Amino acid sequence: MFKKVEKTSFYYGFPVVLMTTKDLETDRDNITPISSTWTLGKSIVLGIGLHNKGFLNLETGSEVTLNLADKTLWENIERIAQVTGSKQIPAYKKQAGYSYCADKFDLGNFTKLAGQEVQTVRIKECPIQIEATVATISLREEFAIVECTIKGIFIDEKILHDERYINVDLWHPLIYKFREYTTTTQGIGKNFRFQEFDSTI
Ligand SMILES: Cc1cc2nc3c(=O)[nH]c(=O)nc-3n(C[C@H](O)[C@H](O)[C@H](O)COP(=O)(O)O)c2cc1C
Repeated sequence: MFKKVEKTSFYYGFPVVLMTTKDLETDRDNITPISSTWTLGKSIVLGIGLHNKGFLNLETGSEVTLNLADKTLWENIERIAQVTGSKQIPAYKKQAGYSYCADKFDLGNFTKLAGQEVQTVRIKECPIQIEATVATISLREEFAIVECTIKGIFIDEKILHDERYINVDLWHPLIYKFREYTTTTQGIGKNFRFQEFDSTI
């Protein structure tokens, strides 16, 4: 038996991404934790609330870096989860206990690395970093769908087998599943097009 269930949010399991953007007026770097992303080819698509500082920065011309968190970072992320880089906090966020934070790098204990292909900073603690520019922004009622073009992918040597291939056993993405942090476990099988390094092959 299946039951039809009404849900306002439906996070059935997505990687946690720390989106870094820049306020081009103040030069201040911001971190927006997001989980609504997907990527195909050179495109990466984001779903971001219209009141988020990260969105305001993108709307006013900032480039973007998508820093993929691993399982070790959930407590750092939870430390910055209830703050915003925007001084204008909408009522629904105030009610949920959000406050303003000028420096989430300091609050979450994250380290900035200079951008390579874009101006936005990378987060050293995130083993995978994707630098991108904004291609299109489509507005919905409460959020925007932002399509970005990937300009560079940077991977920490600690999860690389060699110059090119990732050792998949060493990558433990942080997954946001119905607002619980979790990760992946041992692989259970491989697609016929598997292209990374696997010690058992
Ligand atoms: C794990 C996690 C995932 C989140 N996913 C999203 C998301 O996909 N889109 C979004 O707009 N907000 C998401 N949020 C909420 C934003 O991070 C939150 O609104 C934050 O205050 C935005 O920061 P900013 O205003 O400085 O950009 C998520 C929060 C957490 C902790």
